[in-house]
Amino acid sequence: MPETWWRGAAIYQVYLRSFADGNGDGIGDLAGLRSRLPYLRDLGVDAVWLNPWYPSPMADGGYDVADYRDIHPDFGTLAEAEQFIREAHEAGIRVIVDVVPNHSSVASAWFQEALRGIGRDRFWFRDSADGGPPNDWQSIFGGPAWTQVEDGQWYLHLFDPAQPDFNWDNPEVRAEFEDVLRFWFDRGVDGVRVDSAALLVKSESAFEDLDGVHDIYRGWRRVADSYPGRMLVGEVWLPDQERLARYLRPDELHTAFNFDFLACPWEPAALRACIRRTIATHAPLGAPPTWVLSNHDVARVVTRYGRADTSWDHADRRDGVHSDLELGYRRARAAALLAMALPGGVYVYQGEELGLPEVEDIPGELRQDPMWRRSGHTVPGRDGCRVPIPWSGEEPPFGFSTGTPWLPQPEEWRKLTVEAQREDLGSMLTLYRKALRLRRDLLGDGTLTWLDSPAEVLAFARESGLTCVVNLGSDPVRLPPHERVLLASGPLDGERLPPDTAVWLV
Ligand code: NOJ
Ligand code: CA
Repeated sequence: MPETWWRGAAIYQVYLRSFADGNGDGIGDLAGLRSRLPYLRDLGVDAVWLNPWYPSPMADGGYDVADYRDIHPDFGTLAEAEQFIREAHEAGIRVIVDVVPNHSSVASAWFQEALRGIGRDRFWFRDSADGGPPNDWQSIFGGPAWTQVEDGQWYLHLFDPAQPDFNWDNPEVRAEFEDVLRFWFDRGVDGVRVDSAALLVKSESAFEDLDGVHDIYRGWRRVADSYPGRMLVGEVWLPDQERLARYLRPDELHTAFNFDFLACPWEPAALRACIRRTIATHAPLGAPPTWVLSNHDVARVVTRYGRADTSWDHADRRDGVHSDLELGYRRARAAALLAMALPGGVYVYQGEELGLPEVEDIPGELRQDPMWRRSGHTVPGRDGCRVPIPWSGEEPPFGFSTGTPWLPQPEEWRKLTVEAQREDLGSMLTLYRKALRLRRDLLGDGTLTWLDSPAEVLAFARESGLTCVVNLGSDPVRLPPHERVLLASGPLDGERLPPDTAVWLV
């Protein structure tokens, strides 16, 4: 395997709590994941990215990390994590772990010390003159971004109060995280996903994308470069692509998630512009783009693409807005072929390959996302895209567990289980498996050449000779000259490509 494997990799996102439960407590774990490695190998992915697996009070699904060098007992042990890394490698699958450097957990040793007055400078503790919070910053999950402790000082938390922000001006914090990176690289992990990567450095008046943050990633890159074949992928939600590109300079992060693509509406002009913009900002840096349709923070793609407004916006999550799921499903199939054909890496969020829709009817008392709590039960939040995977059988828990899953699965998912889709040539799972296979040989890293096409059609060729055509209009269009159809997201109309359909040709 080349050291630059990540440039064209298909990376599968495992949301561990919801992937597969090995011990019947209703929570996905490492035993479950290990037992499903053959599934991932057969699916044809090159790597997995696991959301945080560390000890945590789970105030934010594990993004409140109490100990960066151990495993949450619900998921397994450190020894089992090491065993998992070995087994994944044997199956030809690389492993990316999630590191959360912006904030910690109130349960971490450092924060517990800080509460006792020791080492407060590792966090953002401030006094306030007027009895209220030190400034008017709002938490991303709602409510003030400051919480007061017993002796009257306040600490900053851009997310939940259970997630105190680190002070990155403190050299001890910098040294600690470089050591955490080494800890996991020494255990064989191939990559690190950097959570909330643009927020780390703060001033008294701003906290997003400050210049000082780049120095941190230069240090991280030196650590990664001291091991062969390791990569850093940033979670950088910045609307301005030029600002995003600064994180991808040759001595910083290797890649970043393409949220511009994720948020882009299913419209030809917008998509074409997004793809062009992505390639134009990445090319001068020599960094490969990535193509992302969904993750554990956004509404499932089938539901999103079935709505009248198909764009994504964190500030307006559109929960419960009507969606034509058949239309969304058709578009999600076409989008998958588009994303997998584009040059660079691609991310697949677990369940995307099964065509799972967003679950919008989770009872309030079962919801666990802090967004739900912090918004005073007005924003349902992200639990609807985190519902456990249906593997087999006719009723919940669909082979996910022998117990009761931590979030309920809809009865209708009996049609969407892995078992129900595996042998079905028309299923989403079959489409993903075929596409991922073809992608390994014919796609991935490189460049594209746009082909002449009507305005509502995207058509481009890759170096291998594979041509991808996507019809985003409302009428069928004639296919360009070709020898063979390798794969289509839906039935063709003779030599014509129906609306909301994509095809791979040679
Ligand atoms: C981004 C993660 O993807 C999200 O799930 C989490 O809530 C925030 N960062 C805070 O860590
Ligand atoms: Ca379990």
